[in-house]
Amino acid sequence: MRILFITSTLVFWLAVVGFWAAGFWFTAPIAESNGVSADQPRYTLAELAVHNQADDCWMAINGSVYDFTQYLPQHPAPPAMMLDWCGKEATRAFNTKTKGRPHSPYAAQLLSQYRIGMLGEK
Ligand code: HEM
Repeated sequence: MRILFITSTLVFWLAVVGFWAAGFWFTAPIAESNGVSADQPRYTLAELAVHNQADDCWMAINGSVYDFTQYLPQHPAPPAMMLDWCGKEATRAFNTKTKGRPHSPYAAQLLSQYRIGMLGEK
């Protein structure tokens, strides 16, 4: 009886540790597919500044660089609202909509589709 108790306790904890370790194993590749990896393209503020038109609109938000050219016509506010920020570091504008209110979680989740790299020196 005692042996049975010790064995089943051991098996239980082995399973718990196993699932915990497997969690690390499987989440690492997901993080990489989100574009968070070391060898992604880096763009400087000077390179970003060139893409400041409605038909060529890049922005930097929270250290990432985005190409919003395709999204601009779909943005719910008039395009001019976003256009002001093309070619610029726009974290504050995105976080406040320039009206002191944050975008919705849905808007934040759209960002990853347009990510092309990160802001930084080469
Ligand atoms: C960085 C410059 C941006 C500015 C100044 C800006 C501003 C605004 C404004 C004024 C609205 C109108 C609704 C309201 O007043 O609450 C709005 C709505 C919205 N924007 Fe932006 N926006 C910007 C960038 C973006 C980006 C990059 C995305 C997504 C890729 C986005 C997605 C949305 C969505 C989905 C809405 C609908 C309301 C919501 O979900 O929060 N916006 N934005």
